[in-house]
Amino acid sequence: MKPLVVFVLGGPGAGKGTQCSRIVQKFGYKHLSAGDLLRDERKKPDSQYGELIEKYIKEGEIVPVEITISLLKREMDQTMAVNAQKNKFLIDGFPRNQDNLQGWNKTMDGKADVAFILFFDCDNEICIERCLERGKSSGRSDDNRESLGKRIQTYLQCTKPIIDLYEEMGKVRKVDASKSVDEVFEDVLKIFDKEG
Ligand code: ADP
Ligand code: C5P
Ligand code: MG
Repeated sequence: MKPLVVFVLGGPGAGKGTQCSRIVQKFGYKHLSAGDLLRDERKKPDSQYGELIEKYIKEGEIVPVEITISLLKREMDQTMAVNAQKNKFLIDGFPRNQDNLQGWNKTMDGKADVAFILFFDCDNEICIERCLERGKSSGRSDDNRESLGKRIQTYLQCTKPIIDLYEEMGKVRKVDASKSVDEVFEDVLKIFDKEG
């Protein structure tokens, strides 16, 4: 079976990870956060990309897709090698720019189906406040005001145009992510109940 993918996008702190955990519990998807995979790779003492990844993350910039796609593909391949039926993936925080999208098309064209884009639409100020709150305990080098300013710019300049592109193809399912976690999940449920 081919992987069936839902891309999960939205600003930093929109609630992608929070909602993905809930979707996993309810619908049996495998959650792959591109940001988490990059942070894991950065932590490995023998990684040749550790320093590069840290620099990009702190600056709120998007890591070259060759690195990110190899991490995503490895996880998808491993998951399906263990259980071929486990083919539904929530890919969180990807594709975040043109380079990500081109890399996906180049590597995965014909090898995976993108069902739809789950878009968590959230006011930038709310996003920043949530990340600052998360920053009190996350230990993330980018949950601070300086990095967040850059992350919001990257979101607006690079990621939003990708969402708009998918919107034109009728692939975007948008949720108002400024509401409470439970309320957002209610809207998410409606989408997944409909889409399968
Ligand atoms: P993302 O993965 O999009 O960056 P997270 O799911 O990590 O976002 O959420 C960012 C922070 O905001 C976390 O501390 C999380 O607990 C909190 N959070 C997530 N969703 C909501 C919500 N709907 N209302 C208030 N806080 C939220
Ligand atoms: O999604 P998350 O907030 O965890 O992403 C954190 C950072 O990881 C991004 O700001 C970016 O620097 C990096 N990232 C990336 N490419 C992706 C996803 C995340 O470079 N596709
Ligand atoms: Mg996240």
